[in-house]
Amino acid sequence: MIGIYFSGTGNTKYCIDTFLKEYDGSSSSVSIEEPAAIEAMKENDFVVFAYPIYYSNLPKIIRDFIEEHKECFLGKKIFIMATMGLFSGDGTGCSARLLRKYGAEIIGGLHIKMPDCIGDVKTLKKSLEQNQQIVKEAKRKIKDAVGKLKKGKPTREGLGIIYHIAGLFGQRLWFYNKTKVYSDKLNIDKSKCIGCGLCGKICPMENLKVTNGKAESKGKCTMCYRCISNCPKQAITLLGKEVYEQCRLENYIDKSH
Ligand SMILES: Cc1cc2nc3c(=O)[nH]c(=O)nc-3n(C[C@H](O)[C@H](O)[C@H](O)COP(=O)(O)O)c2cc1C
Ligand code: SF4
Ligand code: SF4
Repeated sequence: MIGIYFSGTGNTKYCIDTFLKEYDGSSSSVSIEEPAAIEAMKENDFVVFAYPIYYSNLPKIIRDFIEEHKECFLGKKIFIMATMGLFSGDGTGCSARLLRKYGAEIIGGLHIKMPDCIGDVKTLKKSLEQNQQIVKEAKRKIKDAVGKLKKGKPTREGLGIIYHIAGLFGQRLWFYNKTKVYSDKLNIDKSKCIGCGLCGKICPMENLKVTNGKAESKGKCTMCYRCISNCPKQAITLLGKEVYEQCRLENYIDKSH
């Protein structure tokens, strides 16, 4: 088994690694950002495929990865995991439909609620205790799902027509175009930016570069919130106008369990 994932701010990586550790303790995960992901896909027949949900849909970077490497999915058995802040009708179904088209067999699906990574919208902010509780519950749910998978009765969250309707009418129809193209809406407050270059190093899209001492966006953003969560000057925003909290998963993980 291999884990293939995309994670903007760490939630999905945490979930897939927890899943793999619980499953057999030896399987590893590879980000789609690493060239090794393709080789790993080719060498493994059983894949856990994980990603965050954006607007009840696939992040553009995930959709492109599937389309660009469609031949890798032929004949694979895939268990899909989608992480989210609150709700996704068919988070796993969004990729399942595409992956089936390219010859994969979808053996199960799991939706995991995690802390919301959108740190520049105040209404989405939760307390430290709430986020710690969310992560604890996520861990419990993952363990439960692994148990079911091992017994040959995998969870099928997000798969099937009822979930499809919930995803479509619950949110996707109203936000349909949001993940269709890469975003050019990233804001960089040049008065705050110190030109450290960190955002450019960590961006999965190579969308940011420092010119004349200030970061600039090239308009090809997959909206992952990684730069926003890591800029030392909180100079970057996307959906909001001010950073209220930088997503720091390490603060929410209870290491005693
Ligand atoms: C642009 C954007 C849109 C999002 N849309 C949704 C959504 O429709 N439903 C939801 O429950 N969570 C939504 N989220 C929250 C993320 O899915 C959630 O925080 C996820 O666990 C982040 O995973 P990561 O840390 O691996 O990137 C959205 C996040 C972003 C950045
Ligand atoms: S991480 Fe922040 S301060 Fe550093 S270059 Fe990027 S925007 Fe500027
Ligand atoms: S610019 Fe920031 S939010 Fe956009 S893809 Fe790059 S790291 Fe993610």
